[in-house]
Formats: sequence, structure tokens, C-alpha cells
Amino acid sequence: MNNEEYYDVLIIGSGAAGLTLALSLPDSLKVAVLSKTTIEENATFYAQGGISAVIDDSDSIAAHVEDTVRTGGGLCKPETVQFIVERGRESIDWLSSKGVSFSKRRSKSGRQELHLTQEGGHSARRVVHAADKTGEAIENALVSRFRKSSVGLFENHIAIDLICSHSLPKRCDGVFVLDKSNNQIRSIGAKITVLATGGAGKVYLYTSNPDVSTGDGIAMAWRAGCRVANMEFVQFHPTCLYHPDAKSLLLTEALRGEGGILRLPNGRRFAEGYHPMGELAPRDAVAQAIDTEMKKGGYDHVYLDISHKSEDFIKKHFPNAYEGCLRFGFDLSSQPIPIVPAAHYFCGGVVTDLKGRTNIENLYSIGETGCTGLHGANRMASNSLLECLVLAESSAAAIADKLDKKSTFVKIPDWDESLVVDSEEEVVVSHNWDELRRVMWNYVGIVRSSSRLQKARRRIDLLKLEIAEFYGSYKMKSDLIELRNLVQVADLIIKSATHRKESRGLHYTLDYPESNQKYNEDTLLDPQED
Ligand code: FAD
Ligand code: SIN
Repeated sequence: MNNEEYYDVLIIGSGAAGLTLALSLPDSLKVAVLSKTTIEENATFYAQGGISAVIDDSDSIAAHVEDTVRTGGGLCKPETVQFIVERGRESIDWLSSKGVSFSKRRSKSGRQELHLTQEGGHSARRVVHAADKTGEAIENALVSRFRKSSVGLFENHIAIDLICSHSLPKRCDGVFVLDKSNNQIRSIGAKITVLATGGAGKVYLYTSNPDVSTGDGIAMAWRAGCRVANMEFVQFHPTCLYHPDAKSLLLTEALRGEGGILRLPNGRRFAEGYHPMGELAPRDAVAQAIDTEMKKGGYDHVYLDISHKSEDFIKKHFPNAYEGCLRFGFDLSSQPIPIVPAAHYFCGGVVTDLKGRTNIENLYSIGETGCTGLHGANRMASNSLLECLVLAESSAAAIADKLDKKSTFVKIPDWDESLVVDSEEEVVVSHNWDELRRVMWNYVGIVRSSSRLQKARRRIDLLKLEIAEFYGSYKMKSDLIELRNLVQVADLIIKSATHRKESRGLHYTLDYPESNQKYNEDTLLDPQED
């Protein structure tokens, strides 16, 4: 046990948000990054479609802002949207300077320029990408730069809880961390702590997210006293491969951007019957259309069909999707592919300003964990990576400025394990994981109702009790830490969804199918009032 470990800045998370921040802070600061598995394993690595940015002369910042706001169902914060969208070009240039190689095309005058693809909700081609492996290209380039930097790295270390002062105003002084290699817990002190822990897709049975997406940052922040907003707006990606052995294979929206068609099992095209933009409508509309057709027809899945495009075109633009489908016996270039929607992205999270600052002193939150007001009730495709980059840059500047004005380390406590023993009932934890994810999928999914939310509430309350008992009695393990966080996140989703008695963006309830001006504001939850 060692509690003499202190950093100027401790960043929890090694995705696009965490690594961009780490690489943007001044070298003079002592900085470390925590990652709960390996440095590369995160949602960023699996991002496919790309990053939205205004690049083409025929496009404009105003159009990108307008598309984002329209997609966000009336809840986007206009100043946030403007701030982030304006920095699109800069972010792409920054990534290129770090070695990310984006897909190019030859212009009419023979120049090499960025190839731009199209995705749902966008009125122009403005998605910069590296074929359909954009996240891998970004993460690999950032990791390679990171390894050459002086920033410290703790892989296989999972943050358990924030260490905060009890006095008001609350201040964060560091983190309790479990080293998964030896199951030892230690406290790490920091002048500034940053949550860059990504989303929480694992709260649902079916998700496009990797295993690390368990909402740890949101749950830790909530327990510490942070305000959280818009947790009911969970985005379901319309097209994930339907196959019993495919855990989370997303088929990028850019497939529809390049002409992919949604079909019922009888071959009929249906998306245009639900929205004038058809297959390229915002995700809430497409996922709800698929869900409705599946329930109406009793189908397990519908189909995505791009087989009218040439094999060469598909292999060149979508190597990831092509190879992924082949692994499960489907040929994207010659047959329609079975797909279902799956939980994909959290529009809500820890409330921050445009510098990533939370309501707790010295605690920041950036990337998918944060809620800046960019996405409102529904995120437009490819706006997430952009937000990660812009908030990492702006928080880096704010943190450097703050630390420049002098701040001191605070002595932090050791973790107390004196009252706990080794658990002999691991099976309880794995059963509870399974139950939680099924309850959320069945009752708090794409289509909700008041009675489904009530059912979910009763089960989640029981799970909360069981986990609190477990947590107080047994030694910490990473799956228990994650389960506790997932249950906390589920609780926040249900509370927020129950409060919003209307349908808007990603929140659709059968009891209130229309939107209602009364709810034309964020759902703000405050632990002080809980
Ligand atoms: P992540 O990249 O998820 O990183 C989170 C990090 O936090 C991980 O390193 C993890 O280990 C660490 N962590 C979490 N909890 C703890 C803890 N308790 N202790 C220590 N470390 C912890 N968005 C787009 O804009 N364009 C796309 O094309 C796109 N495609 C996507 C495709 C897929 C399949 C998925 C899943 C998402 C996609 N998204 C896309 C969304 C986007 O990828 C994510 O929102 C974004 O990458 C989140 O980045 P992040 O840095 O906030 O978090
Ligand atoms: C995709 O490629 O379809 C995912 C894009 C996103 O989530 O923004």
C-alpha cells in the first residue's frame, strides 16, 4: 500500500478524450493516465464512421450547427454547439499532425483532399474518416505519441471512487484505485482529477460498446456529489449485426450514407414510411422504425442491404464491416445482412461547462462521460469524437491555467479494508449483471411506458440493496465495482425517464407519445436533492 503517490493531473481513461488531454497538457506537469484494461481497449478504438467537421467549401458552420440542433430535439445548447462545431477543422488538423491517416480522394484539379462521407441527420458530406476503422486509426496514432511522452500510465487499474473533501465547497483530491494484477487498492492524490471514462452501454443486454463501457465515471461523480443530466437519452444504433455469436459488431451508418437500404424479411423497403430522410434520418427515428417493424411483424431482425454496390467499392470503403460480416458467414457485397438496434451512446452524463469543469472543485469530466449540451435529446452521427477532442483541448488550457496560478497537494486517506473478507459467492455478482442488463433491455429500451419503468424501478431497487450488502462485506473485485456502477447508472436512467412525461428524441414512451413544451429543458438530477 502506498499513499504517497501524487500527480498534478490524474486522467481516468485512455480513449480519444483522455489521450488528447494527456498530449495537450504542458510537459512541465506531472500527469498520469489510468486505464482499466489495456490502453487501447475503449469505445474510441471501435469507432467506425468518422468525425464530423466542416471541410468542404459548399458546407458551412451554420449548416452543421443547424443539423446538430435539429437532430437534438430542442435540447441542444446553442452556444455549446457553436463552440464545438467551429473547432472541427482544427481538431482534424491536430489529429493529422499526430499521425492519423484519413481517407483521401483526388479532387477535380488532381489534388489529394480528405474524402468526406455522409451519415444520418447531416445535410452535407462532412464526415472525415479512415475507411470504416476511424477509431482504430485515431487510437493507434494517439497511443504511439503517448508512448513517446513523459506521461505516466497505469493499465489494468480501475478507479473505485473519488476522494473528496467533506467541507463545502466540495473538492476532489484524488482517487481510490484497484490494481487488478494483484487486487491491491491504493489511493492516488491529484491536484486535478479528470473523468474520461466513456459511456455505459453495458447497462443494456445488447450493445455496440466494449466491455469497459460500464458508466464508472458517471457513477463515481454522482456518489461524490456531481450533477448529472439527460440520462434518459440513450442512443440505440440502428444497425448491429444479428448473430448469436456476434457480441457487438456495429455496421456503420456510413453504409446507409453510401446507399445502404433497410429491408423487411420479405424484401420491402420501409424507412421512408417513417421519416422523409428515410435511411438517413437521425438515429432515433431509424431505430424506432426498425423496432416498430420488428414488433409488428414478430421478426427477430430486419436487413441492411448494400449488395447493389460493387464488391470493389465495398471492400475499399468498408473493409471492417465486410471482414466482420464474413467472419459470421455473411457477404456484404452479395446479400442483405441481418441487423438489430443496440445500445450505443449516452447523450447525458456529468454536467460540465465548456472547459469540462464539474460542480466539484478540481474535478473535470470530458468525452462521453460529460454532458456539455452538444447532443440534446439525440446525438447526430460522428459528433461524439469531435466533442471528445474539443473538450480535451479546452480543458487542457483551463487546467494549465489553473495550475499555473498555484495549487497544493492535499494529504489523502488510505482505503480501509479492515471490515471485509474474501467473497465465496461470485455467482451472485454474475447473476446480478445478467438480470440488470435484461431488465434494462426489456423495460427501459427503445420504446418505454410508465408501467415498464415501474417494473424496472422495483427490480433495480432490489439489486441496489443486494449490491450494497455485498459491497460492504466483501473484498473489492473489478466486476463488483462495475456492477455497482451499472446499477447506479440504471437508477439514474429510470429516474430521468420517469420524470420526462413526453416523447422527445431518444426517449419514446407509449403513455406520452407526443412532445410537450413543459419538458423543453434538460432533466437535471442533483445528488444533494436525492
Ligand atoms: P472511451 O473511448 O470509451 O474510453 C474510456 C476509457 O476509460 C477506457 O480507456 C477505459 O478503460 C477507461 N475507464 C473507464 N472506467 C474506468 C475506471 N473505473 N478506471 C480506470 N479507467 C476506466 N462516435 C463518433 O463520433 N464517430 C463514430 O464513427 C463512432 N463510431 C462508434 C462505433 C462504436 C462501435 C462505438 C461503441 C462508438 C462509436 N462512436 C462514434 C462513439 C464514440 O466512439 C465514443 O463516444 C467515444 O469514443 C468516447 O470516447 P471517450 O474517450 O469518452 O471514452
Ligand atoms: C457509425 O459509424 O455508424 C457510428 C457513428 C457514430 O456513432 O457517430
